[in-house]
Amino acid sequence: MPLPQNFKALVVSETAEKKFTREVKRLDLSNLPAGELLIEVKYSSLNYKDALSATGNKGVTRNYPHTPGIDAAGEVVNSSTRDIAVGSQVIVMGYDLGMNTPGGFGQYISVPAGWAVQLPAGLALRDSMAYGTAGFTAALCVTRLLAGGLNKDAGEVLVTGATGGVGSVAVGILAKLGFNVVAATGKTDEKDFLTGLGARSVISRDEANDTSGRPLQKGRWAGAIDCVGGNILATAIKSAKYGGLVAACGNTMSADLAVSVFPFILRGVSLLGVDSVEIPMNTRARVWQKLATDWKLDLSADIVTECSLEELNPKIDEILKGGIRGRVLVNLSK
Ligand SMILES: NC(=O)c1ccc[n+]([C@@H]2O[C@H](COP(=O)([O-])OP(=O)(O)OC[C@H]3O[C@@H](n4cnc5c(N)ncnc54)[C@H](OP(=O)(O)O)[C@@H]3O)[C@@H](O)[C@H]2O)c1
Repeated sequence: MPLPQNFKALVVSETAEKKFTREVKRLDLSNLPAGELLIEVKYSSLNYKDALSATGNKGVTRNYPHTPGIDAAGEVVNSSTRDIAVGSQVIVMGYDLGMNTPGGFGQYISVPAGWAVQLPAGLALRDSMAYGTAGFTAALCVTRLLAGGLNKDAGEVLVTGATGGVGSVAVGILAKLGFNVVAATGKTDEKDFLTGLGARSVISRDEANDTSGRPLQKGRWAGAIDCVGGNILATAIKSAKYGGLVAACGNTMSADLAVSVFPFILRGVSLLGVDSVEIPMNTRARVWQKLATDWKLDLSADIVTECSLEELNPKIDEILKGGIRGRVLVNLSK
């Protein structure tokens, strides 16, 4: 099929110092950087980092105008490498996509071939972006806990920021694997959502946020997946049982971590750092394979909200306030 002259994209512009606007525009294909793969994006998704990029966070995106979108899934329409043929269905996430390279909130992206993962059998393009970076990161956290030796009989596993993108998928995967999941959330009215995903119990954000100042709490968690950082991560570490494993992947509460060494030297607790951006390609492909098979979740409307590019704007503001439940899927064909 001939390529179009132009395509639709969400463009963030800096109109004055620290003033940013967002608008769906038509861009020329020649606006895209040179890359080995030109991909027609069918689906993207909204992640916390996209909202930072879309609101002018220069730690994420240095130069504007810019099209955010750290996730993209679609079909290769032009390829200058033998490794990935025209017509292949691929997932692109992480690396520089959507940060300083135009991202998945546009109908076309141009990227190095090394950024693309072939869509695994058993997963539709839509499913892959229903997970997106958030779901992939949740799976990566679970992978780290399992590799550390956590098993389902070890005791309760805490997930913080549980109604968010990473948190909700983490609850779902852990529950599917038979773990006793305790979900911590600031949205106390979402208890049914979290138990529906498989959490055996739900605690409030306050309960997961110890302010006593004590270096250790009663050991409760065999494992934890923390999406929020700050004092909630510190509390999870202080409340881990002997030999407990805590996977840290996010900072919606804070990027700081104030904790003594006692959980590590008296209880042998391990803090596991999780990064999805630069994770090597073989691990990347293996984790997507898991999401397509044994760990595949029922990605129903309960956990996934679908929207068009035009409908994305208010959701960008909402995710920054911690107000999104589950995942926001962006349909670029709408
Ligand atoms: N390491 C990586 O490679 C990687 C990859 C993806 C995401 N992340 C990071 O992981 C975090 C979660 O991403 P996401 O896409 O899941 O975002 P999200 O959908 O916005 O979820 C974050 C959740 O954190 C909780 N939260 C928000 N503000 C909070 C606050 N001030 N204090 C305590 N809890 C708060 C809320 O859950 P409740 O209302 O249920 O408490 C919110 O839904 C972000 O920091 C993101 O940058 C890192």
